Amino acid sequence: MSGVNEIRSTFLDYFRKEGHEIVASSPLVPRNDPTLMFTNAGMVQFKNVFTGLEKRPYSRASTAQKSVRAGGKHNDLDNVGYTARHLTFFEMLGNFSFGDYFKERAIELAWNLITKGFGLKKDKLLVTVYHTDDEAAGYWKKIAGFSDDRIIRIPTSDNFWAMGDTGPCGPCSEIFIDRGEHIWGGPPGSPEEDGDRFLEFWNLVFMQYEQVTKEERIDLPRPSIDTGMGLERMASILQGVESVFETDLFRHLIDAASSAIGQGPSEENVASYRVIADHLRSSSFLVADGVLPSNEGRGYVLRRIMRRAMRHAQLLGAREPLMWQLVPALVREMGQAYPELVRGEALITETLKLEE
Ligand code: SER
Repeated sequence: MSGVNEIRSTFLDYFRKEGHEIVASSPLVPRNDPTLMFTNAGMVQFKNVFTGLEKRPYSRASTAQKSVRAGGKHNDLDNVGYTARHLTFFEMLGNFSFGDYFKERAIELAWNLITKGFGLKKDKLLVTVYHTDDEAAGYWKKIAGFSDDRIIRIPTSDNFWAMGDTGPCGPCSEIFIDRGEHIWGGPPGSPEEDGDRFLEFWNLVFMQYEQVTKEERIDLPRPSIDTGMGLERMASILQGVESVFETDLFRHLIDAASSAIGQGPSEENVASYRVIADHLRSSSFLVADGVLPSNEGRGYVLRRIMRRAMRHAQLLGAREPLMWQLVPALVREMGQAYPELVRGEALITETLKLEE
């Protein structure tokens, strides 16, 4: 079985061997970017490299990026706890090409990692492409040997990725796994696509354009690649569990909450435990990156996340402040990969306690 920490290193090691520079995660508050509430994807720190404004000494990179999708264009807050896959905080594993390789190599790199590196079975996998992207469809056919029914053409913004209202963007191709008939849901593009049966776990974006204003879209100087794999989703696949909340890392956080509350989750209240575990991560990482609860902007989103967690703690019968007691468990799980959690532990603990 592959633990979360092991999957992260497998991914980065693979891309290191493929000539990528391993770059540290950037903070959750994007530097010098007023267009974004939080870092919501791995490509955010490379925005200016894609558009040609900034030069780096490498043309291929790979990261494990802290991401928050609560508030702003990509917002998953209200789904969290109630689906098997939504999180407000997650780690996005990505590989990037800045005018180096493009579609074909990106598909080949992804395919080799998931089938050879992670051992996923081809007959469980399918992909989507943007409806007009014959080129990507052709590469999937050639590289993965997929028949047409495994390459689903999607005509909506689901397969055209944009960072926000402005910024680099392009058509994308998402990789899905079918987790079996016993789970409700249908393939992408079907009326049941919101179910959990078909899980999207890796998005390959063929970055080609820059949205300059709402009306104006121009070509990027060089076609580039931005991919994002949800680490927690990959962990759920490799660990053979149905939800991200049943992976090793989340189990340990939910165990910590259970001992603090004095009872474990049941079918009726498991959503509350999941909300608490997810929101513990987003709140703690946001505080570690300098966001404090307030009544506006980023601080307000943080406050909403914290209070949503606290409401669920109340629902579980906690009569004493709970969240701050869970910080050591989080630091144990993630402090090695993200030392800012260790450095910020006292501030995180105090902030949670005070707010509760
Ligand atoms: N930017 C794309 C996404 O967030 C791929 O990394 O899905």
